Amino acid sequence: MTSKNIRYLGIAIVLAVSAAGILFFVYSTQKETDLERFIATNPQAYETGQQIFAQTCSACHGLNGEGQFPDNPRQRDETGRIGAPPHTDAGHTWHHDDDLLYQIVREGGMGNPEDFYPMPAFGELLSDEEIEAVIFYIKTFWTEEHRQMQRANTEAVRNQNNP
Ligand code: HEC
Repeated sequence: MTSKNIRYLGIAIVLAVSAAGILFFVYSTQKETDLERFIATNPQAYETGQQIFAQTCSACHGLNGEGQFPDNPRQRDETGRIGAPPHTDAGHTWHHDDDLLYQIVREGGMGNPEDFYPMPAFGELLSDEEIEAVIFYIKTFWTEEHRQMQRANTEAVRNQNNP
């Protein structure tokens, strides 16, 4: 190999490595995930919501929203009741629009107490802002697809109520 060829080879390697670097950079910034983008829309709500969830909700719903009986959320226990449901994609929470979710947290669950453990009312304990924050935090348990579906549902219900 002539020294010229070696130089070309060297340049080719440098170019290939830089191109790989750039591609990796583009890939990793795109991987700045949907979740991170969602959190960035309201970092304050995320922080407040996370604290409230850990302090006030996780004892029943699990620290990561996995529910009281994650292995089988719909299974009745020896008292014949169903425990606190998961808030993850595995659960039902994302099917509800925002206003209904706020209402459940403010006024308590609507489940028949013979069928379900009670979901307490938190309207006295938490401000409206805190309730919105904790619901914002619950949304971080969902996929982007479910967040979008739930957002569309929230808008549809609001439009229906305020035509
Ligand atoms: C004492 C246990 C307990 C605590 C604490 C608790 N929950 Fe619940 N939660 C339940 C149970 C049980 C249900 C299901 C029965 C019902 O809705 O009445 C429920 C239901 C819910 C639902 C409706 C879910 C659905 O799929 O319909 C939401 C939303 C919710 N909880 C949010 C919260 C938030 C937010 C907190 C903290 C501020 C919290 N919960 C604290 C027991 C609890």
